[in-house]
Amino acid sequence: MICNYLAFEGIDGSGKSSLIKRLSEVLSNQQIENKIVREPGGTKVGEGVRELLLSHDYEVDALTEALLFCSQRSQLIAEVIKPEVNKGIKILSDRSAYSSVAYQGVGRGLGYETIYQLNDIAVNSFWPEKVVLLDIDPKISLSRQKVADRIGSDKVDFFNKVREGYLRLADEFENNFLIINAEEDLELNLKRICTWLKVDNSK
Ligand code: TYD
Repeated sequence: MICNYLAFEGIDGSGKSSLIKRLSEVLSNQQIENKIVREPGGTKVGEGVRELLLSHDYEVDALTEALLFCSQRSQLIAEVIKPEVNKGIKILSDRSAYSSVAYQGVGRGLGYETIYQLNDIAVNSFWPEKVVLLDIDPKISLSRQKVADRIGSDKVDFFNKVREGYLRLADEFENNFLIINAEEDLELNLKRICTWLKVDNSK
């Protein structure tokens, strides 16, 4: 596998979690040690911050939201991601700092460049090496969702902006991004991801 820290990105309901689970199984079958982490969360502090971010009980200002995402992220990188990567364990991350650039930077309108820079500080320049972007029309992904959290229950217009943010990132970092059509078959997409990552998917 060509990278140690891989992130899955996409708007709410794009199906990241199922693909990550399948990729993790494939890697384990190949005796490639791996660990799934999720953002926001993944540490005790991070799960506390997750509750603040996603509960419908709080109204959160956009900049506060961006900073809370950064705070759970710096903890996750220091406590889990860096130590695991140093041990040779592959990290499969359900979201990453790129979510903040798309959601807070473009979706919320705080600025693509500003939120990129803010996150560069939060992660100490330790960004995922590769990103699988599950691209989908928000109208379709939102209709797939059963229960939406506070951010996931925003309007289609918001998700159209988030999607635009992701596509801009994929364009800027084209060597590190794989864009997948999230409406296509899961196993077919898994195959594409394995080919891209140079992972044997045959057993
Ligand atoms: P997640 O738990 O991945 O939900 P889903 O499975 O629906 O994608 O993410 C929770 C929400 O937080 C989701 O609406 C995306 C949002 N989010 C941001 O707005 N910025 C971020 O930096 C991250 C990591 C998530």
